[in-house]
Amino acid sequence: MTPDLDALLDQMTIEEQVSLLSGASFWRTASVPRLGIPSIKVTDGPNGARGENFSGGITSAAFPVAIALAASWDVELVRQVGVALAQETKSKGAQVLLAPTVNMHRNTLNGRNFECFSEDPHLASEMAVAYIQGVQSEGVAATVKHFIGNETEVERRTISAEIDERTLREIYLPPFEAAVKRAGVWCVMTAYNYLNGTHTSQHPWLLETVLRQEWGFDGVVMSDWTATHSTTQALLAGLDLEMPGPGVHRGAKLVDAVASGEIDAATVRSAARRMLTLAMRTGSFEHPDPVAERADDRPEHRALIRRAGAQGAVLLKNDSLLPVATSKLKRVAVIGPNAMRPALFGGGSAQINAHYRISPIDGLKDALGPDVIVDYALGCPGDRYTPLIRQPISIDFFNTSNSDTAPVLSKAGESSEFRWFGPVEDGIDQLSFSAKLRTTFLAEESGIHVFGLMSAGTSRLHLNGVLLLDAWSNWTRGESYFGHGCDELLAEIYLEAGQQYDIDIDYACGDGLTTTLKAVRFGIQPPSAAGSFEDALALAAAVDVVVLMVGLNDDWETEAEDRRSIDLPGKQNNLVDAVLAANPDTVVVLQSGSPLAMPWLDEAKAVLQLWYPGQECGNALADVLTGAADPGGRLPMTFPKSLKGLEEMTKRHAKHAKVAYGEGVDMGYRHFEKDSDNILFPFGHGLSYGSFHYRDLQIGDWSQDEGLAIEFTIENRSHRLGQEIAQIYLKSRGNEGQSLVCFLKQDIGAGSSKKLEATIPSSAFERWDNEKTKFNRKADTFQLMVGRSATDIRLLDDVNLQ
Ligand code: BGC
Repeated sequence: MTPDLDALLDQMTIEEQVSLLSGASFWRTASVPRLGIPSIKVTDGPNGARGENFSGGITSAAFPVAIALAASWDVELVRQVGVALAQETKSKGAQVLLAPTVNMHRNTLNGRNFECFSEDPHLASEMAVAYIQGVQSEGVAATVKHFIGNETEVERRTISAEIDERTLREIYLPPFEAAVKRAGVWCVMTAYNYLNGTHTSQHPWLLETVLRQEWGFDGVVMSDWTATHSTTQALLAGLDLEMPGPGVHRGAKLVDAVASGEIDAATVRSAARRMLTLAMRTGSFEHPDPVAERADDRPEHRALIRRAGAQGAVLLKNDSLLPVATSKLKRVAVIGPNAMRPALFGGGSAQINAHYRISPIDGLKDALGPDVIVDYALGCPGDRYTPLIRQPISIDFFNTSNSDTAPVLSKAGESSEFRWFGPVEDGIDQLSFSAKLRTTFLAEESGIHVFGLMSAGTSRLHLNGVLLLDAWSNWTRGESYFGHGCDELLAEIYLEAGQQYDIDIDYACGDGLTTTLKAVRFGIQPPSAAGSFEDALALAAAVDVVVLMVGLNDDWETEAEDRRSIDLPGKQNNLVDAVLAANPDTVVVLQSGSPLAMPWLDEAKAVLQLWYPGQECGNALADVLTGAADPGGRLPMTFPKSLKGLEEMTKRHAKHAKVAYGEGVDMGYRHFEKDSDNILFPFGHGLSYGSFHYRDLQIGDWSQDEGLAIEFTIENRSHRLGQEIAQIYLKSRGNEGQSLVCFLKQDIGAGSSKKLEATIPSSAFERWDNEKTKFNRKADTFQLMVGRSATDIRLLDDVNLQ
């Protein structure tokens, strides 16, 4: 039965209405049991539904990250992923998924590029709509975030994104607008940064004028975590929900503000009504009781993730090496830091505890069968920090900084990292607890071991009772843990194979050192984890084909940080050079959520951009390498050769900096139109195993209502089925850059042709007119381009709309 929301509001006291407007806890809203008003639970995040525990919680299905999904350019696939993510959200007892992230790839080094779809507003919008429609078709709310201007992570809480209206309207707002108008999204999350000098969480023009009045948004606007900054101003501007809870700015303060007439009771009631609407939309009135989190490892999710991984994989270069001729293979080497331990996703709030992780080695062994030997060499590490140890670690919690008393709670973790975002454990005071971690380490090798320690809060590590690392008496803030942790402290010590070593760590969450994030981790790098080029090269030279797995991981690309460089970290570029010299039949496989420089590109026969494809990583990779799947991906972001010319966009800003988006609409491939020498691979680029020829472009008549119909034919001149993504760009005569306005993904059989039809809506010909404050057509003559990427244009014609 549909609840009568107005009748409910009539029965609620002002205190009860206000209680709905801030979280009751970190991941839940308040309930009003006497009226049957349920609490709503939210969960991160874009590539999986994590549940309440920030680390080490109940396992979840790990899907490809957003940049990998967008690389598929496959709207139906992304819709299916949305459906599966909603099912995962329900398995965590939640009603709201805090995703998708639709900020733009403006900054090549942004630590959250992996979490965002594209540099292009049209592609990002199509992906957002499909994702949200999928999620909400299951009765789970999607939350489009972060509204708006969160294109850099360094100093994200203090900087102001300075964006002129045309640039906002044409580049940064469209995915949000599409999410509201086309997908009917139920929640919007504001950003940490300011927009043109005002916090986005209390920006009347953004939240009221644009979002609600112009776009007709009727859902809930929530703040990013701890990014509500006022009691009345934020609510008046349109922020319904302060997250997380318990709220800081609302509750009694808001009740008092109503009593004193500072804010109208009607404003509170409208926001409370939107909270009730969300409860109604997500079916929470019918199912008010909290549901325990469970791990739901479904075969159909496994299959979908595997397919999506291959559909998003971008074959950047291929000089007839791929697909590998499996019938002739005897021995394959998988080399590199990501071979055994692939990266499934980036770091930060998007991290989840995956059900499992298929490594490239496992995936290839399975695909190639018992007759092909698959060998492994590390070559060199790619880690940013010393590797975690994965074994039981006991942890005793104390409710004071004094751990000499009896513990309040004792538990065991499965790895040497503990992270708590908000609540810690039942009965543990998240603001003043301390902990003792204990384990015994069995050295498997004799030699120098590197120990690392890092914490948000203070910590010290004793080995066999002797202090080895001290982030206790001299803790200083570094870059780890969203900027709340210290940098990693390192110590080298000789250990003897076969000996057991006691490791004890004292941890205190501190007072005022950190905010809601508390964490401690230690790692151990044994001598062999330093890798050996010699072993890797000897192996490379002895096999038929090398799969070289290099790249980044969730320590390098993570929330609240931007990368410092576009280069592969550590000695990975040297490893690539050396392996290519040892065996030219090497496929370089890159794992990253944003561009990497490739100084060795000329020497490489084949390069595959695998991104972070989720838990089926090795299987999806094997499908592409063997040709079981066509590499279905195309770049959703330009890959530059270097950061030359991108200095402004990749700048690390100081506290409270005004970040001018001075390039305006000339972002992404429009920037590179004017700097084509710096393009390594253009936006939209990616090879198939098919080979395509474009012909017969026909342009129909245009009308304001119907738009412009076009058709063209693509022929697959190869001997295998291939997938092609035809991209249609428009460019007006004059100075304007080109824009993607439509794309079509198609399977085309060996030797056959397909006639493709598309309609380009009239809005695609319009630009924002600052004077008239609306979209307007500024030109009548355009160039219409059909191609394989932003620079590989195969068909071109003029269009005159007069
Ligand atoms: C992130 C959001 C996330 C929230 C809750 C914030 O740090 O910016 O994207 O949903 O935390 O984890």
